[in-house]
Amino acid sequence: MIHILATGGTIAGEADPTSGGSRYKAGVRPVGALLASVPGLAEAAEISAEQILALDSKDMTPADWLVILAAVRRARLDPAIDGIVILHGTDTLEETAYFLHLTLPAGTPVVLTGAMRPADHPEADGPANLLAAVRLASSREARGKGVLVVMNGAAHDARHLIKARTSGLDAFESAEAWTAAQADGRFADLDVASLPRVDILPGYAGAPARLIDACVTDGARGLVLALAGHGSVPASWLPGLRLARDQGVAILRASRCAGPVTRNANADDDGEGWLTAGDLPPPKARIALMLALASRFSAAETQALLLRP
Ligand code: SIN
Repeated sequence: MIHILATGGTIAGEADPTSGGSRYKAGVRPVGALLASVPGLAEAAEISAEQILALDSKDMTPADWLVILAAVRRARLDPAIDGIVILHGTDTLEETAYFLHLTLPAGTPVVLTGAMRPADHPEADGPANLLAAVRLASSREARGKGVLVVMNGAAHDARHLIKARTSGLDAFESAEAWTAAQADGRFADLDVASLPRVDILPGYAGAPARLIDACVTDGARGLVLALAGHGSVPASWLPGLRLARDQGVAILRASRCAGPVTRNANADDDGEGWLTAGDLPPPKARIALMLALASRFSAAETQALLLRP
């Protein structure tokens, strides 16, 4: 049996009657109605389903990730369930997928999917994506690969997947083939009521250093710097970053470009006590740092986590 956990998203979206047809609202169609619109689903697998959230994924929070994790853990205890499919908005799908990838050990396959067109679109992509996700979650190939994602006929692994385009059915891409992926789950023992706050600070021409202090004063325990180029720290940020570090805030250099941010290249990471993101984009480096802080990882353990392929 495949268990579906619905969280909302465009896959459950419908035209917003207040917009005169120009906009839709994500996360309104209930999971039962979504399943009824998928031809061939009953032949593909026996299905059970649960509506655990009904969100536009731009509004998803770390507290919601914990709700999803708890639902997956519960489903994995049921021996009748062979695979789990999570229906999710595409905007932050890669974040939830990576959070689950780090918190779920190898076991019952978990596959996320969504849609770029709402459920009431004449050529909605949700039904085909849902069917493909159910098939992947039922397959032997999905086992041991960690959390997977299916969109537009292609599978991806949670670590490498990004939403690369704002629109179009081919919005997602990943740098590595999903078939080479391995389960991670190093935070499988995570048992927290909330996750520590980590903020992302964008680097851009003239970015004010006062943003650093604003985040720290407001409770951030970590800062991911989404910097230009090879993670280049503006000189005007150095005093604020040193002050934050001295207050125990973890500082992590990442880049707004694709490609690695390498330790001690382009900055004195050892001297400043900074972490580097490797090839993780800022939103995923943030998740790794949140989990590392929640689990009281040392700086060396956190750095090793960030640089893991
Ligand atoms: C959302 O992320 O919930 C809305 C956008 C989408 O699913 O494509």
